[in-house]
Amino acid sequence: MTQRTLVLLKPDAVRRGLAGEIISRIERKAGWRLSALELRTFERETLETHYAEHLGRPFYEPLLEFMTSGPSIALIVEGENVIPGVRALAGATDPLVAGPGTIRGDFATITRENLIHASDSEASAEREIKIFFPAHA
Ligand code: PPS
Repeated sequence: MTQRTLVLLKPDAVRRGLAGEIISRIERKAGWRLSALELRTFERETLETHYAEHLGRPFYEPLLEFMTSGPSIALIVEGENVIPGVRALAGATDPLVAGPGTIRGDFATITRENLIHASDSEASAEREIKIFFPAHA
C-alpha cells in the first residue's frame, strides 16, 4: 500500500551529523522517496501542536525543550508501507530496547535524545504533514 509519512530528524541527529546516515537508510529502501524536506529550528507552538496528545505527561516539557534546542529536519517520505516501515527502521522509543540495526538501537542511548520521530498511523501522518508542510496537505 502506497503511503506517506512525516519524519522528524530531531536536533540531536542534526547536531551529531547523523542526518545523512539516517536519510540514506530511508532512501535505500526500495520504492521509498523523499517528497519534501526542511531544516529549521521549529517554533515551540508548532511542536505543541505536534505533541498535543502528550500535554501533561512528565516527559512533555523536557521533550519540547529538547525539540526547540536547535534545528531539526522535517521530511515527507512516500512509498510502500512507509508508515510502519520507517517506525521499524527507527526502532523502539527507548534506545536501550531498540534492536541492533535500527537507527535508535545503533546510535542513541537515552529516550529524550532518540534521533527520529515517525508518524504512527495514516491519520497521524496526515495530521502531522499539515503541521509541518501545509502546502503538501
Ligand atoms: S506513549 O505513552 O506511548 O504515547 O509515548 P511514547 O510514544 O513512548 O512517547 C511519546 C513521545 O515522547 C518522547 N518521549 C520523551 N521525550 C523526552 N524525554 C523523555 N523521557 C521521553 N519519553 C518519551 C518519545 O520519544 C515520543 O516522541 P516522538 O517524537 O514521537 O518519538
